[in-house]
Amino acid sequence: MKPVCAAEKIIEKNGRKIVVCDDTRSRLLPILQDRQDRRGYISDKDMQNIADLLGIHPVEVYSVVTFYSFLSTEKKGKHVIRVSNCISNVMKGSEKVVRAFEKALKIKAGETTGDRQFTLERTGCIGMCDKAPAIMVDTELVGNVKPGMVKKIIGDLRKR
Ligand code: FES
Repeated sequence: MKPVCAAEKIIEKNGRKIVVCDDTRSRLLPILQDRQDRRGYISDKDMQNIADLLGIHPVEVYSVVTFYSFLSTEKKGKHVIRVSNCISNVMKGSEKVVRAFEKALKIKAGETTGDRQFTLERTGCIGMCDKAPAIMVDTELVGNVKPGMVKKIIGDLRKR
């Protein structure tokens, strides 16, 4: 079966014009994910370098980086705690969970602790409406979170 091509482009090869699949944009996200995993964030210089590599405008790279909440332009803490704020989670009390983390970590959502151990964020869908309020701790999903569980979650993370 012929693979699906989202965009085609015309190139010249041996003096002939041929149509090939333009995979430039499909290569962008894996490159960004790799950079995020290796460095913990994607700097302005990284975005420029990636744009140069792919032959696209840096604004395109920036728009992708800022669209996806799992990509970041700033270095985050060792552990990233994301509290889902989809409507189901809000109705089930996710803001109480956010406030419990804010109190325990002495930061506001969107901030990183001074020792750079924790970043606390609100995030959209994490696929856990049925277990709301739900959080994502680094890559691990935790459902049915109660404010009373927050100190133990943080304590366990400090041991890692
Ligand atoms: S819409 Fe609620 S976690 Fe996905």
